[in-house]
Amino acid sequence: MTAIVEFASLLERTMGLSADTVGLSYIESAVKARLSACKLIDLEDYWEYVRASKTELQELIDAVIVPETWFFRDREAFSALADEAYNKWLPAHPDGQMRLLSLPCATGEEPYSMAMALLAAGFPGSLFRIDAIDISVRMLKRAEEAVYGRNSFRDKDLDFRDRFFEPAGSEFRLAKTVRRQVRFHQGNLLDPRFMPDATTYDFIFCRNVLIYFDRATQDRAVHVLTRLLKADALLFVGPSESGLLLSHDFVPAELPLAFAFRKKAHALPELHAGLAPPSRRRRLSARAIAAPAARPAVRQGAASRPAATLRQPAAMETVLDEIAGLANQGRLSEAIQRCEEFLRTRGPSARAYYLMGLAHDATGMHQEAEQYYRKVLYLDPGHHEALVHLAFLLEQQGDAAGAQRLHQRAKRANSGGRV
Ligand SMILES: C[S@@+](CC[C@H](N)C(=O)[O-])C[C@H]1O[C@@H](n2cnc3c(N)ncnc32)[C@H](O)[C@@H]1O
Repeated sequence: MTAIVEFASLLERTMGLSADTVGLSYIESAVKARLSACKLIDLEDYWEYVRASKTELQELIDAVIVPETWFFRDREAFSALADEAYNKWLPAHPDGQMRLLSLPCATGEEPYSMAMALLAAGFPGSLFRIDAIDISVRMLKRAEEAVYGRNSFRDKDLDFRDRFFEPAGSEFRLAKTVRRQVRFHQGNLLDPRFMPDATTYDFIFCRNVLIYFDRATQDRAVHVLTRLLKADALLFVGPSESGLLLSHDFVPAELPLAFAFRKKAHALPELHAGLAPPSRRRRLSARAIAAPAARPAVRQGAASRPAATLRQPAAMETVLDEIAGLANQGRLSEAIQRCEEFLRTRGPSARAYYLMGLAHDATGMHQEAEQYYRKVLYLDPGHHEALVHLAFLLEQQGDAAGAQRLHQRAKRANSGGRV
């Protein structure tokens, strides 16, 4: 008798998805959906079919992937990309072509955000190209269409939508100037034949996929990324994935809250020294578009919440910025210590709890991270990032329904509705 665990192990071997991270029930519902789409009743028959047909295996992969993404997700990464590209890469490679990779790109919001951030910074479109890869054929089709609904615009700052999109019914179509910067390809990061040519990249975004792999698979994925990265390149990962890179040959690039890393041998401070005469450097116009996400401030209904939800005085924000900087440099225990002291001396703060959540998440202390994200939400029920991170944690524990509820809340918070 074929059991769901056999499908789970087939999926793990093929695409890296670990049943421990999403839960067996998640995989079971995807298998059952495909069984019924194939008009089969018996699991055994479907098992034979999926093993014999590459097309059906792809359908099953498309049914289990977690396609969660949106424009300018973790905004600081795009701000840092534009800054590094314009102020460091460009002066150092006046005649070069900058190569970027978004892997996995899901429905395209991430690579298109990279392109928008660069174009808005004044980086010439003719000087860069973004390759965008995902295992899901269905997601790539939507990425090529480049028409997006509200769910893709979760950030509060939507200036970029006015600038680069035009309305298409109730949705928005992305301008050709942005679309032509990105080329989509189907690929499996864990396929031994993945990108065999010698293409290497100046910037790679590999965010929010490593969390779905077990440790051995994560290590394999990091080796692939190491091969694809140029010597002095930057690798951006998701907030809960940064701990993993510290256990490989990577060091933090020290770009606050961008979760960016360099290869160890190339992390010396003199790396970019003297690359550009100061007069050629300028602050980016991209700041307007890729500025750090707004900090949790007073939201509707805050009057009935504890005073701690009110905006922090500037000095307190500076301390929290420093703590965020420590966390991003991988100095996680120092960040946790400073945060604990902050909370002890200054009382509850949504941002401090959020930083505690991120730092614990990054060190693999998921239970503690969960508690901190819940504290954030007590103080600030519409804190979008805390809702999303907590949803991921619940997904990893197999609580698909709880995760779903939090994703819905995050969506409502984003559209300014009641949470
Ligand atoms: C949560 S989305 C992340 C999208 C984007 N990077 C972001 O952070 O918003 C995860 C994506 O990983 C893709 N994926 C999962 N396993 C993969 C693999 N082995 N190779 C390539 N893509 C994969 C899924 O198809 C899905 O679109």
